[in-house]
Amino acid sequence: MIENRFSCRSQAYDAADDQPANQSDAATLGDLINARYNRRAMLKGALGVTAMSALAASPLALLASSTERGNPAAAQLRFSEVEHGVDETHHVAPGYSADVLIRWGDPVLAGAPAFDPYNQSAGTQRGQFGYNNDFIGYIPLPFGSGNSEHGLLCINHEYTNEEVMFPGLSLYDSEHGGVTKEIVEIEMACNGGSIIEIKKQDGKWKSVPDGKYARRITALDTPMAISGPAAGNPRLRTSADPTGKEVIGTINNCAGGITPWGTYLMAEENFHGYFSGNLENHPEKVNYERYGVPAGRYAWGKFHKRFDINAEPNEANRFGWIVEVDPLDPASMPIKRTALGRFKHEGAESIVNGDGRLVLYSGDDQRFEYLYRFVSARPVNPENRVANRDLLDQGILFVAKFHSDGTLTWLPLTFGSNGLTAENGFQSQADVLIETRRAASVLGATPMDRPEDVEPNPHNDRVYVMLTNNAKRTSDQVDAANPRAANIWGHVLELTPENGDHAATTFKWDILIKAGNPDSDGVAAMWNPATTQNGWFACPDNCAVDHQGRLWVATDQGKSWKKASGSADGIWALETDGKGRGTGKMFFRVPVGAEMCGPRFTPDDRTLFVAVQHPATDGTKDFPGFERASTFEDPATRWPDFDPTMPPRPSVVVITKDDGGVIGS
Ligand code: FEO
Ligand code: CA
Ligand code: CA
Repeated sequence: MIENRFSCRSQAYDAADDQPANQSDAATLGDLINARYNRRAMLKGALGVTAMSALAASPLALLASSTERGNPAAAQLRFSEVEHGVDETHHVAPGYSADVLIRWGDPVLAGAPAFDPYNQSAGTQRGQFGYNNDFIGYIPLPFGSGNSEHGLLCINHEYTNEEVMFPGLSLYDSEHGGVTKEIVEIEMACNGGSIIEIKKQDGKWKSVPDGKYARRITALDTPMAISGPAAGNPRLRTSADPTGKEVIGTINNCAGGITPWGTYLMAEENFHGYFSGNLENHPEKVNYERYGVPAGRYAWGKFHKRFDINAEPNEANRFGWIVEVDPLDPASMPIKRTALGRFKHEGAESIVNGDGRLVLYSGDDQRFEYLYRFVSARPVNPENRVANRDLLDQGILFVAKFHSDGTLTWLPLTFGSNGLTAENGFQSQADVLIETRRAASVLGATPMDRPEDVEPNPHNDRVYVMLTNNAKRTSDQVDAANPRAANIWGHVLELTPENGDHAATTFKWDILIKAGNPDSDGVAAMWNPATTQNGWFACPDNCAVDHQGRLWVATDQGKSWKKASGSADGIWALETDGKGRGTGKMFFRVPVGAEMCGPRFTPDDRTLFVAVQHPATDGTKDFPGFERASTFEDPATRWPDFDPTMPPRPSVVVITKDDGGVIGS
């Protein structure tokens, strides 16, 4: 019965999806500029600067200490695989250690109390690590140093799982029974992001207590500016903000990105779930229907009227953006960059193009939604990070149209052209951006199988696109780039810009793998035959390109894990070149009910940070021996503490090689 209630709630939330992974860090991007502009002299100069001016120094400096770069021996994947399976804990390849770095509820801000799940309040949670860690960014300290043993971690918190968070809330259902204002505000403080300073000492990574960069960003009380073409538009104005230029907080922060100038981009993904109310005669009816607003998953609108679309009709237009945060200045105000469009942004990874402009890729994670690219108007200034402050406010957003001949066209979302006109209800560029999805449909973009992470690889100038699954695609809806009906396994696309120009109108594309069991009839998987029975996966979600150009894929099968693979989620290395192309190799496995997020390497590739999200929740009725829904009192696992007084806790895990070597060497 309880299971039914839970599945009803998540089905209702998923139903909103039916209508319709990283990471170039500053080092890698800096290298690209370096290679392209051959400015070794400037690189030396940047290395000699003082700590203060290092904040304004070029990210080019990061490359200087990237020792393994270009070493072909290091690029081979030599680890022994983890086996497919599912149990209560995590597993890493032999010869590696996987240690918990920070857990939900651990103190982030100075003075925050230790976690006590029986006495949690919005006030305590405000200073503690949030729930469902997802994106992880690493910024070496000092900025520009390439330091792989001291840096900042920027971590997103995507959403909350009340049934395993709060004592006595096992009856949390679509009516939100038992949910109080305090619980809603704890949830609000659990969304957003955490910035922590970390240091490796005696071979082990530790948080720096009371670090000066420590910061919590929440949905509860973090003011944010709104900038770019939609800022100030009447459709963004509310009673609390008649200017349409300032909003409190950010929600459902899934993946993201780190820019070449060391800022942290937080993607707002499933924002529809936080709004309640009804759409009848609503001025934003057409717009909101396209995004599934209001899904009413959470009870926020009951206690905070801005999340009730009838009380505050425009608030939902102020979410679904990319938020830019300067982690090196804890007092700085985060900024929502409207030029990057409004949709269910999975992530925001970027690359510096040959002409110096920034090209940022972002998937819209919903069935039959689209793949986007933003090209900045101005080039990145590699010498002065402050000069890039508003670079993301000007440029062109494009959407992808895939062709069956193996090419794709990037279509510009520019007001006044190609039907993005008053005739179709667009009065300005602001309208095009607020209703990005509808504008992209007018242009004839290709509906995809849920685009998740998109990662450019600066070593070969290709771009990897994780398409996680789409059970709803029918056989008459298949196309060359989304070739399977009822695709519960997902696939990975590889895009190749013409002449390495990420701003080019036309790219080539190819399918790298079609996920699922290669030995199973009816799956039509596609893998290199060298892939072992542990090397294949289902539902690619987040990904990372390490500093040798190797691709690592993290999976999220959700509650359908049993059907998709029968094994828990994890991380796989996926070869992209040579005779090994298309070979997967399992490296890490998460505990039951969790998904794998946030893979991020230090510049020396000797540390891999991963985020274990929502342990004990997804599909536990299929976990042999447990076979029921988890609750706070009765979870499928109490990972990572295994303490009978502690619930399961989403946590960041640090993976290092026991001999101190490069991950995967
Ligand atoms: Fe938040 Fe699309 O994963
Ligand atoms: Ca994801
Ligand atoms: Ca996902």
